Amino acid sequence: MIRALLVVLFCLSAAGPIRAGNAELAPLTSMPGDPVRGRAIVRDTGKASCLICHAMPISEEPDHGGIGPPLAGIGKRATSGELRRRIVDPTILDPATVMPAYHRVDGLHRVLDRYRGEPIYSAQEVEDVVAYLATLTDDVPLPPPPSALLETGAARSGTDYLGGATRRLQDDDFLNPGMFAVERGSEIFHRVDGAAGLSCAACHRVAEMRGAATRYPRFDAGRGGLIDLPAALDAMRQTKMRAAPLGRENEDMLALSAFIARQSNGLARSVTIDGPAQAHFEAGRAFFETRRGQLNLSCAQCHDALAGAKLRGDTISQGQIDGFPIHRLMWRSMASTHRMFAWCNSALRAEPFDSGSPEYLALELYLAWRGRTLPIAVPGVRR
Ligand code: HEC
Ligand code: HEC
Ligand code: HEC
Repeated sequence: MIRALLVVLFCLSAAGPIRAGNAELAPLTSMPGDPVRGRAIVRDTGKASCLICHAMPISEEPDHGGIGPPLAGIGKRATSGELRRRIVDPTILDPATVMPAYHRVDGLHRVLDRYRGEPIYSAQEVEDVVAYLATLTDDVPLPPPPSALLETGAARSGTDYLGGATRRLQDDDFLNPGMFAVERGSEIFHRVDGAAGLSCAACHRVAEMRGAATRYPRFDAGRGGLIDLPAALDAMRQTKMRAAPLGRENEDMLALSAFIARQSNGLARSVTIDGPAQAHFEAGRAFFETRRGQLNLSCAQCHDALAGAKLRGDTISQGQIDGFPIHRLMWRSMASTHRMFAWCNSALRAEPFDSGSPEYLALELYLAWRGRTLPIAVPGVRR
């Protein structure tokens, strides 16, 4: 027993992924697993529930994922040793898998502080889950995952992945809750503010704003870095109106940027990615492709490879930004691209970056280019 445990510990601390072939992993603890506890653990949303990605014969849960194979009958198809090996660290079987390693702590990037050094499952929890999976010996027919949207190639808006009700909300200007923000943005555009006694409208006709949003983020020589639309609008307030900046991620800025971005609806983006912007563009692309957090997933693993698949109740989209700022029903508020990036980062239990950080500006430049064929459609409505 001790010997087996030492072998396991040695394997876990080895530098690269180890190829275990068909070797099974011996029990991690001397106490046998408890299937009843295991069933509760796999449902626990605080522990990266297996249901995020797998359908399981747990009928009281309404939402099951369709990313991994259904687990009904898995107790017949795999031995406890094989199940344990996969749950502890599936990258040993396939270094590119999206399935998290449930009992591993090393080799992870930017794990959120409160999860650092902690595996998702303790050794005993691994045993409980293995014991539960071993009881799943009946093949229950489960509905296949909706795959109509599973395709790669062409860019597709998040709108294409919406449920009918949310889509109807977005498409009707009278119902779209984001239109309140747009109206408020129009008021801010026309309101005199600041020491110069001017409004935006004193210098710009609304129609002149058409196309402005398509060019952001762009390189700004004065800053020696990228500037996005909210920062550009605040720069206008400060330099032209001598007014206080609105700041980021507050209702007024989200409203003003939604109003300005909406003037470009129907236009494709045309960001510049060469010259001084190139290094930022490459950094953004690298960010998108880097695995991070306790779940050890990259943006690309979900939004390139799994677009169209079911992540519990959500359908994963391509993570495009054509609808931003969006109205997010879950938050009952408008949301910027950077807030969405931070949400996806935190969902992976990765340390997010600040809104307006060089990392998120670079990421946004990459996403603007990646979705460059999509017409801007603001304000998007999302779940
Ligand atoms: C983020 C998505 C994700 C999560 C969460 C996840 N898995 Fe998986 N799982 C997969 C994918 C994808 C596969 C297919 C093989 C691969 O890519 O490794 C898989 C394969 C498996 C297999 C092999 C199935 C077969 O028929 O060969 C088992 C067993 C399994 N997962 C169990 C679990 C358990 C138990 C949990 C929770 C403790 C879990 N998975 C959580 C994505 C996930
Ligand atoms: C005093 C006149 C003046 C005021 C007030 C002013 N702007 Fe400007 N704005 C300009 C000028 C001039 C430019 C051209 C670039 C420059 O000089 O910085 C510009 C550029 C812009 C651009 C960039 C256009 C593009 O194609 O990229 C946007 C967007 C913009 N302004 C929006 C606003 C908004 C929103 C406000 C109110 C918060 C505002 N401006 C207030 C004069 C003004
Ligand atoms: C585990 C899978 C997963 C990973 C990894 C992930 N996301 Fe997401 N993301 C989602 C889900 C689920 C949603 C909400 C539904 C949808 O629009 O896809 C979402 C939404 C988004 C949206 C909004 C799309 C829209 O049309 O409203 C953006 C943008 C986004 N993600 C960017 C990112 C970025 C950038 C990363 C990397 C830091 C990332 N995501 C990592 C699952 C993921």
